[in-house]
Formats: sequence, structure tokens, C-alpha cells
Amino acid sequence: MKGSFITFEGIDGSGKTTQLNKLAESLRSAGRDVLLTCEPGGTPLGREIRKAFLETKQDVEPLAELLLFAADRAQHVEHLIRPALQAGRIVISDRYADATTAYQGAGRGFDLKLIESVIAIATNGLKPDLTLFFDIEPQLGIDRMAFRGENKMNRMDQESLDFYARVRAGYLRIADAEPSRFRVIDASRSVEEVADETLGIVTELLASV
Ligand code: TYD
Repeated sequence: MKGSFITFEGIDGSGKTTQLNKLAESLRSAGRDVLLTCEPGGTPLGREIRKAFLETKQDVEPLAELLLFAADRAQHVEHLIRPALQAGRIVISDRYADATTAYQGAGRGFDLKLIESVIAIATNGLKPDLTLFFDIEPQLGIDRMAFRGENKMNRMDQESLDFYARVRAGYLRIADAEPSRFRVIDASRSVEEVADETLGIVTELLASV
């Protein structure tokens, strides 16, 4: 495949979406063709799925949650990500499969072998070239979310400190297992410092392809 696939990960409140927009702006002003997307909800069908299970007051079964994230991803990969990569574009996704490993695996406690098979089915083997993990202490993430205002919160945003600590530990285990793909960025620093490091790492990747 000709393009580059970059994903952003982080616990809620890590500031990754701000960083994603800043990175896209820098790359576009350098003349790069960038597709910005997100999970869940990167496609019209995905937005319907997202509404049905994230923005609901229904009691959602953890297995249903796992499979709905996977359904959203299958649509996202085949309808948006793969065609864009085939056209040689840089695709940057706000979350992808590592979120399932961290949230449903480490957070909800699903067996990692099961998580791996669900991911393999949903992605049909498509892996990011680079993943940036915006790392912060869970308490800081919760404080930042509270600052944003409670009316914007979805079902996942209302989890406990303990849940986010497990999710963060799950992400850090991926970093240990795959250090060249999965890079950890200290996201407790200023927006500018984090943006500089982000751009540096991505520029390195793009120079190598
Ligand atoms: P969203 O409002 O898109 O938040 P964010 O800006 O934090 O990405 O909410 C998505 C939520 O879904 C977020 O709490 C992470 C969670 N999530 C999973 O639990 N598993 C997944 O596979 C994905 C993609 C997201």
C-alpha cells in the first residue's frame, strides 16, 4: 500500500484530538495530502453505530460493546482507510484497534486472545505504520474532561479512575511489546511541546517511506 497510516491513542482527556488537528495543519501546510478520521464514527454508518451504543442511556452488554466497536472499524477500514492509503494519502485516525486492546481488554477485562481475534477480523490485518500514545496520569485526564463540561460526556467518559488506570496500563503494555510502532509521548506538557515532539516523530516516519 502506498500511503502512511498513523493512529493517535490516549486515555480520555489526554489532548490527542488537539494534537491531531495541529499535526494535520502542519503536514497540510507542507503540501501533504492528509485524511483525518476517527473511531468510533469515521463513516456515516459508524456514526449511526456510535450513537446507538455510546450516546445511549441503555445498559450495554460488554460483549455487545466490543462487537460494535469492531463493526464500526470494519466499515471504517474498508470504506475509508484502505481506499485512502491505496490513493497514497496520509491517514491519521483518532483511535483505532489499540483502543480495543486497552479499553475492552485491559479496561473491561476481556481475554487478550479473544480481543486479538476480534481485531484481526475487523481490520482484515490492517495495522498502523505508527501509533502515538499521548500519555497522562488518569486523574489529569478526568480533570481535563470535567473542565470541558459534563454535557459533552458520553458513556465511556463516566468510567472510574481505576478503569482509566487499567486502560493506561494496557496501552503501556503495547508500548513494551511493539516499541518501534507504538511511541509514548508525555502529554502532560504544554500543547506546543507535545506538538513539536509529535511533528518530529511523524516527519521521521514520512522521511523513511
Ligand atoms: P470519543 O467521544 O470519540 O472520545 P475521544 O475523543 O476520547 O476519542 O469517545 C470514544 C470512546 O470510546 C473513548 O472513551 C474510547 C472508547 N473506545 C473504546 O472503548 N474502544 C475502542 O475500540 C474505541 C475505538 C474507542
